[in-house]
Amino acid sequence: MAGLYAHPDYYEIAFDFRDVAAEVDFFESCIDRFGNGLSNTNSVLEVACGPSPYLLELDTRGYDFTGLDNAGEMISHSIEKARDNDIEATFLRRDMADFYLLDRVDFAFCALGSLYLDSNDALRSHLDSVADALTPGSLYCIDGSIDFPGGTSSQHEWETTRGDTTVEFCIDQQPTNVAEQLVRQTITTTVTDGEETRRFREEYEIKTFAPQEFCMVVEESDFEHVGWFDSFDLSKPVSECEPGTLHRPMTILRKRD
Ligand SMILES: C[S@@+](CC[C@H](N)C(=O)[O-])C[C@H]1O[C@@H](n2cnc3c(N)ncnc32)[C@H](O)[C@@H]1O
Repeated sequence: MAGLYAHPDYYEIAFDFRDVAAEVDFFESCIDRFGNGLSNTNSVLEVACGPSPYLLELDTRGYDFTGLDNAGEMISHSIEKARDNDIEATFLRRDMADFYLLDRVDFAFCALGSLYLDSNDALRSHLDSVADALTPGSLYCIDGSIDFPGGTSSQHEWETTRGDTTVEFCIDQQPTNVAEQLVRQTITTTVTDGEETRRFREEYEIKTFAPQEFCMVVEESDFEHVGWFDSFDLSKPVSECEPGTLHRPMTILRKRD
């Protein structure tokens, strides 16, 4: 049974809860405060772009968009979205662990806990690839993916309806190897479309990164760690948040000059 990542239309319904404009405002605040400045930022890379939910907003604000994902269905869907909206953008079907961009970009981000890597070596290779893709002094923002609570199980589920289609989404994370900090992520989706019901399930084993471990790997890379902020809000440094209250902690890295 193919998973939700092979069904971009249903994925878009399930993840329709975001305020994309506010999230892009946050990226621009980060670029202004920690990066090259907005006037020097013309192009953006989304790592694990899925159906490219930020494409239209970024294009409206004048940025050239490159989206990278390893799912062919997501890339095809993104190409169609760009074509339907008369946007010139670049889409690449690649593994985030090791890729190369022909033209450098001025900002990169990875949204919704999408750092699908299985080891510290894969993280090193990923950071090398992103650093090579960026102009010096530019930022890489990573939404989620750092294991602040430390090795716990978690489950989140919600339901979204658009027109006749209801998508019930559940993501479950269970530790599988505590020494190597591996977890199994199981994503189950039930789609009710009029009379028809379809079920999808996919499983990934990925590595979670403890905050200080992540910083040590970053230290060896071409990035410096600028900070962690919760909920797309620069007034909420993670160090000042109550344990257990984090919502979507954002990691901000800057490519060294
Ligand atoms: C949770 S979705 C995020 C999509 C989009 N960034 C968003 O904000 O809605 C995760 C995406 O990561 C992609 N993905 C998973 N493993 C990947 C890998 N190794 N390299 C590139 N993309 C990957 C999946 O195909 C999926 O589209």
